[in-house]
Amino acid sequence: MYKSLSLVVSIMLLAFRAGGGDRFTPGQPWMDDHGEVINAHGGGILYDHGKYYWYGEKRGGHGSQGVNVYSSSDLYHWKFEALALAPSMDTASDIAAGCVMERPKVLYNKKTRKYVMWFHLELKGRGYSAARAAVAVSDHAAGPFSYVSSFRPNGNMSRDMTLFTDEDGTAYHIYSSRENYDMRIARLADDYLSDTEADSLIARDHQEAPAMFRYEGTYYLITSACTGWAPNKASLYTATSIFGPYTRQGTPMRGEDADRTFGGQSAFVLPVRGKKGEFIFIGDRWNPRDLKDSRYLWLPISLQGDSVTIPWRDDWDLSIFHKP
Ligand code: GAL
Repeated sequence: MYKSLSLVVSIMLLAFRAGGGDRFTPGQPWMDDHGEVINAHGGGILYDHGKYYWYGEKRGGHGSQGVNVYSSSDLYHWKFEALALAPSMDTASDIAAGCVMERPKVLYNKKTRKYVMWFHLELKGRGYSAARAAVAVSDHAAGPFSYVSSFRPNGNMSRDMTLFTDEDGTAYHIYSSRENYDMRIARLADDYLSDTEADSLIARDHQEAPAMFRYEGTYYLITSACTGWAPNKASLYTATSIFGPYTRQGTPMRGEDADRTFGGQSAFVLPVRGKKGEFIFIGDRWNPRDLKDSRYLWLPISLQGDSVTIPWRDDWDLSIFHKP
């Protein structure tokens, strides 16, 4: 009797920790509305018409299977929406099944009224040598997206990447280039479908996994070192102009395993709606043996004056942003 009661309690606790409650439990399995583990890695979040959309890499055990999209109204509970961008069955397509699509990010373009997705594309059968950025568009946040094109921005190799929209609506593509030795930033064209020639070097520190945010006059960029799926020490860069110069500040992570980014790697920073100066760090704790089962690390960013820190928390909720 006691045994079965304690079994029930353990299962309930597990379900709660696995994302059933109104809490974030970094590094724990996180389920969608079907009870499936959320499969949206290296992702980014778009807020649109009262809902958050989470776009991320759909992974098989190892392979890349396109871009998934989930939606949520509260950031805790996620509904599986669709495979937002599917690999193509046309073997001549850039995104032919077997290609690699990584780190998708989506912006809404007010002028064209299109949802524009960017991702890192590697062509089928060519390892990581193509090093291209790719663009897809949709009329709806939940897709489906149609593939537009892929290219090397201004001739530069382009692997890990993110997008960032500044307060004036101008959008930027931040990308690892020259075999990941360079981090670059390029302003997007007005329709967000391509990079412009306003493209400049941020740092030559062999970094990837860029995630950018802005607070008041400062741009903050979080990156990782380049060790594949294995975790390493993050870096924080700051600048007062989007094109730099950027100053490297060391890792913002704090707590046990901070120097390994808690076993993870940066993917995105989400500004908390209605909370000025509050941001959520979003990262991946990769499982290279079973990529789809990689975990997510969502942690509140602590911004005090000029200091940015990301302390580890086993679990937390959004009420943390109401505290003074
Ligand atoms: C990482 C990168 C990931 C993925 C992986 C492949 O360095 O951040 O997005 O490309 O390498 O090994």
